[in-house]
Amino acid sequence: MESLRDREILVVGGTSGIGRAVVGELLAAGAKVMVWSRRPAPDLDAPDVRWQAADVTRPLDEAGLDLPDQLHGLVYCPGSITLTPANRLTEEQIQADFNLNVLGAFRVIRFCLPRLQKAEGAGIVLISTVAVRTGLAFHVSVSTAKAALEGMGLALAAELAPRRIRVNVVAPSITDTPLAAGILRNEEKKKELGQRHPLRRIGAPADIAAAITFLLSDASGWITGQVLPVDGGYSTIK
Ligand SMILES: NC(=O)c1ccc[n+]([C@@H]2O[C@H](COP(=O)([O-])OP(=O)(O)OC[C@H]3O[C@@H](n4cnc5c(N)ncnc54)[C@H](OP(=O)(O)O)[C@@H]3O)[C@@H](O)[C@H]2O)c1
Repeated sequence: MESLRDREILVVGGTSGIGRAVVGELLAAGAKVMVWSRRPAPDLDAPDVRWQAADVTRPLDEAGLDLPDQLHGLVYCPGSITLTPANRLTEEQIQADFNLNVLGAFRVIRFCLPRLQKAEGAGIVLISTVAVRTGLAFHVSVSTAKAALEGMGLALAAELAPRRIRVNVVAPSITDTPLAAGILRNEEKKKELGQRHPLRRIGAPADIAAAITFLLSDASGWITGQVLPVDGGYSTIK
């Protein structure tokens, strides 16, 4: 991805799982990466990475964050996969999922918009879930939040296209990350869930990171307002 060389890219949630894999790909492509999360990751100590503490569930203006003057890319990774039967779901849970998945993304995008605009050609990538298009039991709260995130992404794609800011969404199926550890309890469970996918395996962080890196790069320069399933065929193939 030569087009990412020396580009300034912010990965919110770049210390774990999919976000961490994105950071690895961006560094390999020669980008300069900023990472925001609540806790630092000791393994992120590279010359082209700068980490800052941020909690996206709170207003960002007060957090003393600073960014380069121009930002060529933004990836928003924080999210949830809290699976709860509807009869046990609380309004507080739905609000918490909405705050983390949707309002958090909105806070970050609004904060970054002046810098993204200055880059005169930038990409934003959001992360949804396969569950928005494929009805899955116990996903009411997360599907509701991610569907809103997709709607926000498409509306922003329309609004920001004249400013040369592309906005796209990737929609993964189950991926082997710390967030999914409660579902992917052991190798047997991973295999069983893998068998439910047409490509016969669960996702790896690198599978999702490759799609995100593509959507940040000039190779996707005429793609905006899309939701790209990265799901081993789960959402479309029977
Ligand atoms: N894994 C899957 O199976 C799967 C499937 C479909 C969709 N997704 C989506 O993919 C995205 C990434 O998931 P993942 O599995 O890679 O998760 P993960 O391994 O838990 O990583 C989440 C990252 O976000 C950061 N984060 C969480 N809450 C934050 C907050 N309030 N403020 C700032 N940073 C915060 C975390 O760092 P700190 O905790 O230090 O803040 C971490 O860096 C999520 O949106 C998830 O919904 C995942």
